[in-house]
Amino acid sequence: MCESLVLQTRIRMGSISFRLLRGSPAKKLNSRSGFSPEALVVQNRVRSLSVVRSDLQLPRLAVTASISLTPDQVEEISPKIQQVADWVGQVQAVDLQTIQPAIREELESNIKNNEVEGFSAPDTNPFGHSFRNYDKESERSGGVEAFYKTNHINQTYEFATNKKEEHGKLNKGKMSIWDCCEFLNEYVDESDPDLDEPQIEHLLQSAEAIRRDYPNEDWLHLTALIHDLGKVLLHPKFGAEPQWCVVGDTYPLGCAFDESIVYHKYFEQNPDINHPVYSMKLGIYKENCGLKNVTMSWGHDEYMYMVMKGNNTTLPDPALFIVRFHSFYPLHRNGAYYYLMSEEDEENLKWLRIFNKYDLYSKSKVRVDVEKVKPYYLSLIEKYFPAKLKW
Ligand SMILES: [Fe+2]
Ligand SMILES: [Fe+2]
Repeated sequence: MCESLVLQTRIRMGSISFRLLRGSPAKKLNSRSGFSPEALVVQNRVRSLSVVRSDLQLPRLAVTASISLTPDQVEEISPKIQQVADWVGQVQAVDLQTIQPAIREELESNIKNNEVEGFSAPDTNPFGHSFRNYDKESERSGGVEAFYKTNHINQTYEFATNKKEEHGKLNKGKMSIWDCCEFLNEYVDESDPDLDEPQIEHLLQSAEAIRRDYPNEDWLHLTALIHDLGKVLLHPKFGAEPQWCVVGDTYPLGCAFDESIVYHKYFEQNPDINHPVYSMKLGIYKENCGLKNVTMSWGHDEYMYMVMKGNNTTLPDPALFIVRFHSFYPLHRNGAYYYLMSEEDEENLKWLRIFNKYDLYSKSKVRVDVEKVKPYYLSLIEKYFPAKLKW
């Protein structure tokens, strides 16, 4: 009862303050001493508010607000109302003109709201289920669980180390970035509960969505276009690797498997879980050693990163980070393994989180006109890559 009265009174008091503010004589605004007109308005409002605060008479206020209060209630509520008025005054008194926008805060709150700079995420995937929902009966979810079971049993530190060495030679053939996009069109990603479209659609949908919202970051458009090209590992010509070691979420090896990894229960059959060092939280790593020193489970992320480095791309560091760790959901979704990150990783992670929204939520049935957008992406490929790359 008492609390609701306080609340009502707060609301009413707010409107009374507002009337006083609006009723105050118009001050002459100028830009003297570097003050903006807006700053002067803020200062005037603070001055008006302090009038309300110093004159605060709760019985008078209660009459104005049509609330009946007993003397005991007045005694009890008055300090609380005064406290609220003081807080409002303190907040209003902050000089906001000198404060730079807090980019990190903005990004984090936008990400929490499923929105990044105007990108509105749809609620459901093309099957009508929430994204990355591994529990819902999707047309393909049975296959997704079987996929992760095989993945978790077989991805060991030794396995990933050997794959990095084998594919790091980049001796399977030469191909341009665009040719690789078209080449990938034959495949659908079995680990993905949200997608049954040809890969080139997903690449262009992500790239075009980012391009719309970040028109000046051309490196980010190209990063979106190429982020999944490592899936060529599936093709007989580039290794004929099975799906379980090409796609799906990735995670560090050589240290304990975090519980947030999807279908964690299947790690019970992974030999590394009984290893004296690999089973420890830090395993073979030092705290904050940096993700570039961590061996990740083998897949298309790591392979495409190697292709980019091995072909001397001029794309900036965040692009390499995005490609290398875009499937590392335990980190960028669940905040696991933060103790392996360096300061540089934290900076790059901001871009990865932006990218991830587009990677995940732009998977839709809306088709992109490939021929229409092709010239733009060819110009970016020419800017950041050689004509033919070693794969
Ligand atoms: Fe991917
Ligand atoms: Fe993707």
